[in-house]
This record gives sequence, C-alpha cells and structure tokens, in this order.
Amino acid sequence: MFSPQTYQHRRDTLQMKVGSGLILLLGNTENPINFEHNTYPFRQDSTFLYYFGIKAANIAAVIDIDNQRTIIFGDELNMDQIVWMGRQETLKEKCDQSGVQTSMPFSALQPFLHSASKAGQQIHYLPPYQSFNKIVISDLLGIAIKNINPSPSLIKAVVSQRSIKEQQELEEIEAALKVSVDMHLLAMKFTKPGMMERDIANAIQHHAANHGSPLAYPPIVTVHGEILHNSYKLNILKQGDMLLNDSGAETALGYAADLTRTFPVGANFTTQQRELYDVVLHSFYAARELLSPEITFKEVHLSACERLVEGLIALGLMKGDPKEAVRQHAHTLFFQCGLGHMMGLDVHDMEDLGEQYVGYTEEEPKDTRTFGLKSLRLGKKLAPGFVLTVEPGIYIIPELIDRWQAENKLSDFINYDKLRTYRNFGGIRIEDNFVITESGYRQLGPELIKTAHEIENFRKDYVS
Ligand code: GLY
Ligand code: MN
Ligand code: MN
Repeated sequence: MFSPQTYQHRRDTLQMKVGSGLILLLGNTENPINFEHNTYPFRQDSTFLYYFGIKAANIAAVIDIDNQRTIIFGDELNMDQIVWMGRQETLKEKCDQSGVQTSMPFSALQPFLHSASKAGQQIHYLPPYQSFNKIVISDLLGIAIKNINPSPSLIKAVVSQRSIKEQQELEEIEAALKVSVDMHLLAMKFTKPGMMERDIANAIQHHAANHGSPLAYPPIVTVHGEILHNSYKLNILKQGDMLLNDSGAETALGYAADLTRTFPVGANFTTQQRELYDVVLHSFYAARELLSPEITFKEVHLSACERLVEGLIALGLMKGDPKEAVRQHAHTLFFQCGLGHMMGLDVHDMEDLGEQYVGYTEEEPKDTRTFGLKSLRLGKKLAPGFVLTVEPGIYIIPELIDRWQAENKLSDFINYDKLRTYRNFGGIRIEDNFVITESGYRQLGPELIKTAHEIENFRKDYVS
C-alpha cells in the first residue's frame, strides 16, 4: 500500500470536490465460478483501491462529508474462517494502514445509511458493475435495481482525481511495464513455427506470475491479429504467419501495463507484412509526436488515421485524398477502433465510470454512432499527468471487406481489387504507454524493440 497520508489526502480532495452529502464506495466481492466457495481470483474495485488501498472483499466505505467522518464497514474473520483460511491481517490493521480510525460491522451499514437518508443527506455512489454490488446497493438503499442512480458529481470528482497520476503511481505503472517488456521479449525469443498460440500465452503468464504479477487483462496472443479481442489460442503457428501479442502485467497495488507487438513466426516478415508494418509504425510515431496538453486525443487519433491512409495509398490499397478519406471514415475498413485509452489502476482506466465522463466532455461528447469513432474511448483535450496508450493498427477483416464491397462502399477511396491479395493477411498493432507532461509526453517503462529491423535482428538468434 501507499502511505496512510496518501489515501487520507486523496479522500480529503474528494470531499472538497463533491462538497456535501455522503459518499458510499463499495469494495468488490468474491465471485463464484461454479459453486459458492470456488471463486475467480479476487480483484478489488479500482476506485476503492485508489481511496483506501484495502484489498479485502465485502467491505464498504462511507465518507460522510457533512459530519467529517470516514468509516469502513466490514467484518473481521470469525473462528470458522480462521480455521479454514488461517490468521490474516485484521480489518482494523488494514484500516490503520489506510489512515481510517473507525470500522463497523457490515450489518451496521444499512441502518447507518437509513439514518443519513432520513436526516436529508444525499448519498453519492458510483455505477456498480458487479451484479452482486447492484444487489447490495438495492438492499442498502431500499431501491429497485432498475432505479439505481449513480451520482454524476461523484463520478466527475473521481475521474478528475484518478486521471492525473501522482509520481508514485507512475512508478507503479513503470514497474508493471518492466515486467511486461520482459514478457514481450520472452515471447519474441520463445516463439517458433509448430507451437500453439497458447504455448506463448502460458510462457508470458508464467513469467508475470514469477514476478508476483497477475496479468492486467486476458492476453491476446494470436495469429489472427485482425480479431481485435481474440481469446482463441489453439492455432498452430506457421512459417509466414505473424503473431500479435497484446499483454501486460499488473502490480501488487493494481497498476496496469498494456503493450502490443506484432512479429513474424519465422525470422523475417514477408515483404507484404513488412510494408504494412511500416505503415502502422509510421502512424504510431506520428501520433506519439503529437502527444501534448495542446491537443485533443481525437485530433491525435484522426491524424494517426490519416497517416495510415497515406501509407495505404502508397501501397495501392486506398486512393484519393487522405484527409477526405478520413473525413468519410474510409480508413475504418482497416482501422476499426480507437487509437488508445487512459490507463492506470484499470487497463482501460475508469471504464466502469463511463467513457463519456472519462474520455470526453459535455461540450464535446462522444460520437456513439459512427463506426470507428464509437470505439474511440478517449477524445478530450490531454492534460499533464494523463497516462494513455497509443495503439494504431491495420486489421484485414474478410467479412467486413465483403460487406463493404457488396455495397460498393466508399469505392472512391478503397481499391477492392488490390485488397483481394491481402484477404488472409491478419492484423498488426503496435502499442506503448505514455504520460502527458507540461511540454509533451514521456514514454513509460523500458523501451521495447519496435522497428521491423530491430525485431528481425532479435528474432534471428532464436528462430531460423
Ligand atoms: N489490451 C486491450 C487494449 O489494448 O485496449
Ligand atoms: Mn490498449
Ligand atoms: Mn493492448
């Protein structure tokens, strides 16, 4: 955990931002896999971690702004639980580390909130995403689940704080990146034709586990990089394939890393692969150089799209004016998603609080309808302290091409004939993590080889 003063200071700031009422923050629960006592690995809620740092399940916190008190509600282990699970740090000890003086049994929370409500206090809470916590809120507040009504002022206050990373948070993210860079180098050493995708996924997971790190998200390790969130890992790797590895570790305090590299299963890219790789890399560099507090991430995204289109025109896959092609969203045949997202305690930081609040402003809300832009999680002006990913890609999705071609869609910009020779190409993504500074950006974590030349040079020692 960070120091008790860190959590205290964050809570003080939150109280000032919200102003009045009572803030209710729920920890996460243990979720059963197939019966109650066989559970998924426990992960504490990130906002709870941010303000309290306490990892126990089934606890809640109240920050009573009006009466200047903070209380953790939860239960100490009973003797049966100690018999089965051993002695653990007590809730009281955890509260001390978090700088919280008062704890009460969980059963006291409902009457506490009832009295607060009767006294006219507003109860602020965040959008619950675990089903169990929807039930908990419904029970605690005596409202139907469909009437759960999270507090916009609390969401905005939390987003404004969590978006600006403290130095000690940046150090955590860099620690996650150190493990993650080694995971990626291991994958580039280990991968050989004849292996299965899962062999590489298992190896990197093993490396992270040996460093005390869970993975920050299910890794994407696939020869079908065009499938954006591909979880299938049973394909056999063949000479001539590319492997897309999107994986990152999480630190013990919960901070994530999110890296992607795409490399040949053999020692070298084919000419076709290398040409498109360089298009993506060029777009990556161009986007990176734009990162600064002077620009919106939507502008960076659109600029990266334009660079992709220029490269695709040079290869004869697209045609026309790049600016106009992007304005008409023609690039989305190749790049269907967004350029990046905030990162921190969550790999998609604060996604549970809503993209409109995290990535956009009321003046410039998210475009939730346009193919491509509706998947851009971050669009607003950047600010010093934001941590984000930059992850351009090219994804050749045969079904999407067939659909567009059948409609003759945007044929002024797409060279469908040439595209036929790329039908089984797959996908390429390059992803690194950055912090926005006063003057621009700083890349986080150790540099991980990225150019096609660097990758081929590295691979030649491990695969023929
Ligand atoms: N790892 C998921 C993503 O890059 O957004
Ligand atoms: Mn990402
Ligand atoms: Mn990723």
